[in-house]
Amino acid sequence: MSRTSASCLLTRVYDPLDSTDPQVLDYMLVPHRNFNLINGVHSPDEVDQIQNWEIRDSDIFAVTYPKSGTIWMQQILTLIEAKGDVTPNTEHLNAQLVPWIELIGSEKEFNAAPSPRLRVTHLQYKFMPLAIRQKRGKVIYVARNPKDVLVSYYHFHKYAAMLETPKDFNDFFEKFMEGKVFGNCWFEHIKTWYANRDNMNFLYITYEEMIKDLRSMVERMCKFLGKDLTEEQMASVVEHSTFRTMKQNPQANYKTVPDSLLDHNKGTFMRKGTIGDWKNHFTVAQSERFDSVFQEKMRDLPLSFAWDINDVNSAT
Ligand code: PPS
Repeated sequence: MSRTSASCLLTRVYDPLDSTDPQVLDYMLVPHRNFNLINGVHSPDEVDQIQNWEIRDSDIFAVTYPKSGTIWMQQILTLIEAKGDVTPNTEHLNAQLVPWIELIGSEKEFNAAPSPRLRVTHLQYKFMPLAIRQKRGKVIYVARNPKDVLVSYYHFHKYAAMLETPKDFNDFFEKFMEGKVFGNCWFEHIKTWYANRDNMNFLYITYEEMIKDLRSMVERMCKFLGKDLTEEQMASVVEHSTFRTMKQNPQANYKTVPDSLLDHNKGTFMRKGTIGDWKNHFTVAQSERFDSVFQEKMRDLPLSFAWDINDVNSAT
């Protein structure tokens, strides 16, 4: 077992109402049904129970592989629900407003929560409530080009105190390619979700589309969710979901999480927020190897990604 974690731990190990310094636990990856859970954060038995959860039609699940825009979706979904009022996002961590379903103790909280229940998950499709296959609730899958995911995840591992610090970029590159991280294999994640899209009320969007035209993507989400916002409300949702605005909001970027969990001297959650940073990290050989794996694993999926910021800028 290797030692690891992800930002979803923050809600588990950090309670902002608790003034004592949070304890940094020794998290370990625990294989469960071909997926790595995290000891102390997830319980295999509880994760298995998720399939039986009762789902309301108003439930909304944002699904992401780690580092694909989870916090962005937490921000946007909360703002859409609040019709552009940013107050909740300034008073609470995004992870509290839109919690992860896979954390220990989530079921009780989920059952008791008023509608609409906004949730995020990094889990694979096979763990989800079976009711979503009867088109109960709604699912928004956010994908990001996996080279940028890898780089973002690498930096997150370096500054999150509860994570195993990678020896170097190459070390992390290998772990990611082998799926030896929380979230497992990126290819497996997107393939299994996308292959089952017709079973669910399902919207597929990409991080890169959100970078290119955030307003259009928020409009698409509102249409999918059946939300009718005024022009002013829509403008507020977009304004408070930009990278620049979120970076300035301590609740929206985990700045309020103590250094003992996220060492703010070593990194930041809202790091670059762009497309193509992988070019500053990958060697030519790594990039070629990644491309060849991508072509092989994705050959049956009609999905493409923008790999450079100019790919989306030049298209506008
Ligand atoms: S986690 O740990 O899985 O919850 O991380 P996640 O929130 O999925 O991903 C973090 C990356 O998303 C970027 N981000 C944004 N980019 C552009 N605009 C906005 N508003 C935005 N919000 C979050 C964040 O900067 C991380 O990417 P990197 O490449 O590291 O900057």
